[in-house]
This record gives sequence, C-alpha cells and structure tokens, in this order.
Amino acid sequence: MERCICYGLMLLMMTVVAVRGNEFEYDDPLTFNHYHGSCPQLEKIIHNKLNHWLKNDSTLAPALMRLHFHDCSVRGCDASILLNHKGSERTAKASKSLRGYAVIDDIKAAVEKECPKKVSCADILTSVARDATVAAGGPFWMVPYGRKDGRVSLAKEAESVPMGHERMTDLIEFFQSKGLNVLDLVVLSGAHTIGRSTCGSLQDRLFNYKGTRKPDPSIDPKYLNFLRRKCRWASEYVNLDAVTPKAFDVQYYKNLQKKMGLHSTDQLLYSDSRTAPLVSAFASQAGVFKHQFAVSMVKLGNIQDYNSDEDGEIRLNCNYVNA
Ligand code: HEM
Repeated sequence: MERCICYGLMLLMMTVVAVRGNEFEYDDPLTFNHYHGSCPQLEKIIHNKLNHWLKNDSTLAPALMRLHFHDCSVRGCDASILLNHKGSERTAKASKSLRGYAVIDDIKAAVEKECPKKVSCADILTSVARDATVAAGGPFWMVPYGRKDGRVSLAKEAESVPMGHERMTDLIEFFQSKGLNVLDLVVLSGAHTIGRSTCGSLQDRLFNYKGTRKPDPSIDPKYLNFLRRKCRWASEYVNLDAVTPKAFDVQYYKNLQKKMGLHSTDQLLYSDSRTAPLVSAFASQAGVFKHQFAVSMVKLGNIQDYNSDEDGEIRLNCNYVNA
C-alpha cells in the first residue's frame, strides 16, 4: 500500500508542475484581470447573491458545481447548458436532474444591471462553481475570466456526459478528450463528497446489475441493504457520501476503500489499477486532495472548444442566444 501512495504522490507532483506551467502560456485567452476595468465588482455581486440563495437552500452548492461540470463537458465552458430551447443540452436525459438555473439567471440579472453587456454567462457559472465549492467547505482558487457564451446547444451532445454506469476506460477517454487526465478524473470525482443522487440512476445497480436480476456484488452488504430500502422509488434521493454527506472531506475516498461508492463509476476508481493508487493517496491526505481539487477545477473551467470560439458572444439572458 505504501508503494501505491508513493506512486500517487509522484503523479500528483508531476501534474501540479505541469498545470502550473500552463498558466503562463501566451496564447491563453483567459486572464485574472479580464473584468478589472469593465466590471470590477463582479465577484462581489456573485458572492453576495449566491450566499443569499445558499442560506435558503444549501443543496444548491453541489448542484451548481455539477452544472459547471456538465457545461464544460460539452463544447467547453460556454454556458451551452443554460440555453433553454427545444432540443438544447438541458433537455437531454443526462441533464434531467441538473439544478440551479434560476440562481444563474438571478445573478446574471444583477450583473447586467451593474455592468451591462460585459460579463458572459460562462464566466458567471465558472465563478459560481468556485464560490459554491468554498461555501461547501472546499478550497478557494482564483478564476481566470474571458470565456464567451456559445450559440449552439444540442441535447444529443449532452448525452455523452457520464451518468454513473460507464466503464473506467470510457471515463478516462472522456476526460482525455477534454484535456483532463487520470489525476483530474480521480480528484474531480471527489466532488461526490457532497451532494446527492436521484435513485433512478442507480436502481439497476441495486436490483438488476447488468441484467442479472441481482445487485452489483461490489457493494458492501450493509450499505446495499440501506440503499435498497432508501431507493424503492426512482424519484427518491440518496447522499453521494453516506458517512459525511455535508462535509467537503476525503470520506468519499475512504468510502470507496470500504465498498461504499454510490455509483459503479465511483467504486471502479478503487478497483481499477489505473486509479486506485490515487484514491489511496487522497484518502489519507486531505491537504493534497484539496490542493489538487483546486488545480483540477481550474483546468476544468479552462476547457474551451476552439472550433466554436469564433461564434462566441456575451449573452444578455443566459437562457437565449442574442437576437
Ligand atoms: C467522473 C465522471 C462523473 C460521473 C460518472 C458522475 C456521475 C454523477 C451522477 C450519476 C450524479 C447523480 C445524478 C442524479 O441526480 O441522478 C452526480 C452528482 C453529482 N456530481 Fe458527478 N459525476 C462525474 C463527475 C463529476 C465532476 C467532475 C463533478 C464536479 C467537479 C461532479 C459533481 C457532482 C456533484 C456535486 C453531484 C451532486 C449534485 C447534487 O447534489 O445536486 N461530478 N454525478
């Protein structure tokens, strides 16, 4: 096991250095001072508005982190997930349980009042994901800005976002296609240390795994019992981290070591030799997890689709492309 942790740490160090190196590339269109002149109060507006929403409903913090992941997973972080028309990404099956759209609309309205036509919905969503992480007890990071809002949003593209029943090779390849590596995959999956899932997305795993009419044998029997009682209805909710569902900690990884991952994609992180050493490393080093989470969230937020970049705009309303 010690060798595993060493391997994990080595990988961490290598990636941290690589990511830091990228921050200084000249062609990076995102910058920390993008709104310094045009909307200096942007982060304050976002922070205050978001905290107001979270006071009434703290479950919105994980929901908004997930919304950001789904946005960046299709055509880069371009707010394409927010477009609200027939056949858009948010109408996809994979987007069914996404929440938090009203929060972004409210913040966008407040930002438009102070800084009209200056701030993209994509930048707002990225900043909100950072603030939501901090509000949930996670790490802080600086958000680079300057994203454009996309004009294209197709449900069928959103169906490619992983739903919890993929094979590890599929997950690794999906992340790789976005410029994210195995380390990013393992650390960003750590977002499942908070938040919840609808039971619908794991009923097969509990009652009819791969058509066997039996549960997935890789679930701890006591945990399985608990889940089967809790998940009689697809519309019920269950916490992603059964032990400390509200704390942004490394319990998610410890759960995987005890066969208590909620989705099979969670549990696979510990049974696959490509990812297991990293799970062990994070399970025992909370500081390393939080640091690397911040680094990988910056990478996630920087995903851009350079093909659709030229058509980008600053949307006036996050639900619709400009007329
Ligand atoms: C590795 C690939 C991933 C898979 C397969 C996956 C899968 C899932 C599934 C199935 C759910 C529950 C959906 C439902 O309500 O039924 C979920 C929830 C969630 N995911 Fe992921 N996810 C992945 C990566 C990520 C990433 C990269 C993040 C953020 C950095 C993230 C953040 C979250 C959060 C915070 C929730 C809880 C949402 C809430 O409470 O409303 N996930 N994920």
